[in-house]
Amino acid sequence: MLWVKSLHIIFVTSWFAGLFYLPRLFVNHAMVLSNHSPDFAVSERLKLMERKLYRFMLPLAVLALGFGLWLWLGYGISGGWMHAKLTLVAILIAYHWYCGKLLTNFSQNKNERSHIWYRWFNELPVIILTAVVILVVVKPF
Ligand code: HEM
Repeated sequence: MLWVKSLHIIFVTSWFAGLFYLPRLFVNHAMVLSNHSPDFAVSERLKLMERKLYRFMLPLAVLALGFGLWLWLGYGISGGWMHAKLTLVAILIAYHWYCGKLLTNFSQNKNERSHIWYRWFNELPVIILTAVVILVVVKPF
């Protein structure tokens, strides 16, 4: 069980590296495009970085969630905290999917959001990570 939990934590951490960094790239990309004379070479570079990062995040998410399900359903570790955790995980999966939509908007030069909006958007994974770690370690209910 401890090997499964170790792998769960390793892939959760790796997935979060992408969930933190991709929106940060979006902040920079929106700033580049909002300049009165946008540098399209930089924009193309950011598109490539965003695409590669997002492609890398999917297998990490699948492995993080797979080992989590193994702990929950395989070893029967559960409780009220798990239901709250799964609700937050569902929001996180929706956030990951929406990052894909935003990436497509940038790649088609159809971004409509400001860098300020992306800065707030970038905070959501931090809030979810904080809540999930407290739920799974402290198990308050
Ligand atoms: C399908 C989604 C997930 C399921 C079913 C799941 C399930 C579990 C289970 C059953 C444990 C073992 C708890 C224990 O031994 O006390 C665990 C540990 C953990 N999970 Fe998840 N998890 C999922 C996703 C996540 C996500 C997205 C995060 C991060 C935001 C996360 C963070 C952690 C951490 C940090 C631990 C280690 C806690 C400890 O060692 O006490 N999990 N998870």
